[in-house]
Amino acid sequence: MGYVVTVKAPGKVILYGEHAVVYGEPALAMAVNKYVYVTAKVRDDGKIGINAMDLKLAGLSVTILENGDIVARTDYGAVISALSYVKRALEIAMEYVGKRVGVDLLIRSEMPVGAGLGTSAAVAVATILAYVKALGYDIDKRELARLAWQVEKDVQGAASPTDTTMATFGGLIYIKPEGNSVIMEPVKPGTEIPLVIGYTPRVSTTKELVAMVRRKLESMRDVIEPIIKTIGVITRRGREALEKGDLELMGTLMNINHGLLDSLGVSTRQLNEMVYAARSAGALGSKLTGAGGGGCMIALSDKVDVERAIELIGGSVLSARLDSEGARVIDDKSLPTLI
Ligand code: PMV
Repeated sequence: MGYVVTVKAPGKVILYGEHAVVYGEPALAMAVNKYVYVTAKVRDDGKIGINAMDLKLAGLSVTILENGDIVARTDYGAVISALSYVKRALEIAMEYVGKRVGVDLLIRSEMPVGAGLGTSAAVAVATILAYVKALGYDIDKRELARLAWQVEKDVQGAASPTDTTMATFGGLIYIKPEGNSVIMEPVKPGTEIPLVIGYTPRVSTTKELVAMVRRKLESMRDVIEPIIKTIGVITRRGREALEKGDLELMGTLMNINHGLLDSLGVSTRQLNEMVYAARSAGALGSKLTGAGGGGCMIALSDKVDVERAIELIGGSVLSARLDSEGARVIDDKSLPTLI
């Protein structure tokens, strides 16, 4: 034995329907070609080594003082939380193969951690798949998605299966809550979907934002319920536009969806500025994506001007396309081999 296996698993954005999906309306999620990479190498001493340089770098800030001293500050909170997903994913992968074999893991991320792009799910999926494959075993995707969802539930207490499904299968998925379960239907796009993702640090957690919307709904049901229902209508129309390849209509629906999310109070001034700057620079549509409270926005565009406009507002930018394969083993000799 002694295999070295590298796996990549994609992040995701929500095109339409966040928050409304909590109340039974549909949502539409898209896996993006930005990845978490996990390399696993079997060790013969039974120990586990984890090298997560990139996860650390995502939260690293370096300041050079006037006297030349360098002050480095790492967002250990984000790193430690990402590592708790790795630890649980390894335990669950060991249960799956039925033995405990030591490994060195190298974890890298092309996405910011904790911004709502589903990095924790991608870490869980990629860690399980890399471990299982490095030991010479197989796992089918349904089982992989189920185990990775279990990791999220164990670490967070509760989790929707959306992110782990996206990281496992990739593609576009229409999510329909039905009673206590969730139906996920793959959607075939009628055209390529060019996205610019802009992100800023998050100031509120998903849990806080979901609770805030619930309080509003409970205190003003007659006002808030129609907004939630309309977001559901937008998601259904958005799916049709996507299947037809009607990017213009998709953009218009994103704009309306953003206005409604803002009216629920989940946007921030900086997210709004990025959303409007993207439109002024020529995006067909733009909206916050995920829970809000800072974090990410998406713009339907492949224009460099849109990226520059978001950066001018202080956002960081990733340009993204659909990932239609989901988690997979890669043979990429070009990746740095640190282990
Ligand atoms: O923060 P994200 O990208 O995981 O999005 C959360 C989406 C919500 O609809 C706000 C919550 C949920 O569980 O669906």
